[in-house]
Amino acid sequence: MAKVMAISNQKGGVGKTTTAINLAAGLSAAGKTVLLVDFDSQGNASQGLSAFFTEDQPTVYSVLMEGVPVQEAVVRSEANGFDILPANLALAGADLEMDKQGAGKEQLLSRALEPLRDQYDYILIDCPPSLGLLNTNALTAADTVLIPVQCEYYALEGITQLLITIRLVQHTSNPGLRIEGILMTMYDIRTRLSVEVAQEVRQTFGRLVYQTSIPRNVRLSEAPSRGLSIFQYDPRCTGAQKYQALTEEILERARQEGSHE
Ligand SMILES: Nc1ncnc2c1ncn2[C@@H]1O[C@H](COP(=O)(O)OP(=O)(O)OP(=O)(O)O)[C@@H](O)[C@H]1O
Ligand SMILES: [Mg+2]
Repeated sequence: MAKVMAISNQKGGVGKTTTAINLAAGLSAAGKTVLLVDFDSQGNASQGLSAFFTEDQPTVYSVLMEGVPVQEAVVRSEANGFDILPANLALAGADLEMDKQGAGKEQLLSRALEPLRDQYDYILIDCPPSLGLLNTNALTAADTVLIPVQCEYYALEGITQLLITIRLVQHTSNPGLRIEGILMTMYDIRTRLSVEVAQEVRQTFGRLVYQTSIPRNVRLSEAPSRGLSIFQYDPRCTGAQKYQALTEEILERARQEGSHE
């Protein structure tokens, strides 16, 4: 049974997609079977993995709103070693369309992923930068949520808002939802701000915060233009080493919890 992990933060540009792609690649290099669900109408994960092979490629939108069987929309990224359920701009209107569905509108993604849960060790969901119905659907489908946090001012406020949303989902559509961990991103050891923010987040959230922080690394921002994860693009760079360390930390936590090993 797959562990479903939402990668979520309503703040834009904090490293959700970069983390989703490279964690998917890291887990698959560790021998796990992985599906990455692009759940953002920007389609960054799909583009960053060159997941559109044909123009009429069905997407997560086709599955949710047009009744396309989910297996038909899953694409294999041979270069990266895992599968992807792609998204494109069509998903932009889905919030409103989902809202019209009434009862069960929070469970649409969860239900759509049901036939796939037996087929993977991990299903990662790359969430959009908002707290709307798409995000609620992702949190409802998920077992855990991984929160990337950029080392900058207002980082804590952003997390607080997300935690309120998570609590709401726990009280309504997904009582079993847990926090997987908090990941400090774009960490810059040379700036006091970065160091201070990371310290503050660690003081507040303790062991929930991963030991591994992801530094600013230009190679991480270049890799998507080649359709590759950082491990294929430049396996020796700092970004690759850090995402490898994060993968190991996540697998170690899973071992300690006695699951998915
Ligand atoms: N550690 C890093 N070092 C350098 N650049 C990074 C790093 N992480 C992400 N980036 C770059 O920063 C930008 C935002 O990252 P990313 O797309 O992963 O964030 P996001 O949270 O998914 O954004 P959105 O909220 O728009 O979906 C991208 O151009 C990405 O390539
Ligand atoms: Mg993104």
